[in-house]
Amino acid sequence: MPANDATDKLHFGSYATLSDGNRIPRLGLGVYEMSDQEASRAVTWALQAGYLLEYIYSAEWYYNEQSVGSAISRFLASPGCPISRGDIFYCSKLQSNNGYHATKRSIAESVKKCGLGYIDLYLIHSPYGGRDNRLESWRAIQKAKDQGLVKSIGVSNYAERHIQELLDSNPKYPPAVNQCDLHPFMARLKLVEYCRANSIALECWGPLVRAERFDHPTIKELASKHSATPAQVLIRFSLQRGYITIPKSVSQHRIIENANVFAFELDRADMDHLLDLDEYLVTDWDPIGDPAA
Ligand SMILES: NC(=O)c1ccc[n+]([C@@H]2O[C@H](COP(=O)([O-])OP(=O)(O)OC[C@H]3O[C@@H](n4cnc5c(N)ncnc54)[C@H](OP(=O)(O)O)[C@@H]3O)[C@@H](O)[C@H]2O)c1
Repeated sequence: MPANDATDKLHFGSYATLSDGNRIPRLGLGVYEMSDQEASRAVTWALQAGYLLEYIYSAEWYYNEQSVGSAISRFLASPGCPISRGDIFYCSKLQSNNGYHATKRSIAESVKKCGLGYIDLYLIHSPYGGRDNRLESWRAIQKAKDQGLVKSIGVSNYAERHIQELLDSNPKYPPAVNQCDLHPFMARLKLVEYCRANSIALECWGPLVRAERFDHPTIKELASKHSATPAQVLIRFSLQRGYITIPKSVSQHRIIENANVFAFELDRADMDHLLDLDEYLVTDWDPIGDPAA
């Protein structure tokens, strides 16, 4: 479980401290399935909105690393820009586990494409590829960390067995993050507990249930109770669970809405109610539940 900042009270600029000592903003912008133009606009809007957006999340697979990186660089170079590269938290991921040398090439390519000098968080996208490839990819990622190309390193869509395999290999650096689909309809409580016990921060993808459950009666009821939108209730749930949260939107007003979640708090009963909604809902893919992975 990542530590919160000093007051433990969530606010727009809240961050967590990872097991490697680096700080990560609690809320960021996801850029999955965005065209270059959409990604460029969304990143600019989020930065303008003051998203402590110092967390932007891209990936080799989304094919928009260049447009995301360029939008960040343009913003940083704009007259009077109040922030610098060090305030931005940029994350990217390895598309495929194809061994040590392929991973090294992928990282070099990702760093070059984003144009930001380094990547703040680099993740293995999924466990697919088999044990040897997973461990060889990790070895290359550790090397990139030593070289300063990436600052923090972690995994995504890893089940307990994949993480245990990595820990059993005696890595120089354990994973600092596991990014998984986590929301009220996909609670993954055992995995969450396992990650917390191993000081691995949970980052949730699909925090808005990929827009599939905004009309659920409980979500609507809680939205009405807190004068919030269904999206804000889901983001708040995720943040209060201690997850690093990266909702995606291509719309300026929804990007602002998704960051405007610090004026209300879900109470214990609300949180329990939301946790009761677990139905193992797969909204995209499910490497964690795939026995072949
Ligand atoms: N590691 C992985 O395997 C993996 C897999 C999937 C995603 N991810 C990451 O996680 C991020 C977030 O997940 P996601 O994109 O899959 O899904 P998500 O954030 O749960 O949902 C995005 C959907 O919600 C809509 N939306 C956003 N804000 C809204 C609001 N306030 N009101 C109504 N609708 C709203 C978006 O539409 P508009 O864009 O039109 O606003 C989009 O259709 C991704 O962008 C990506 O960075 C990682």
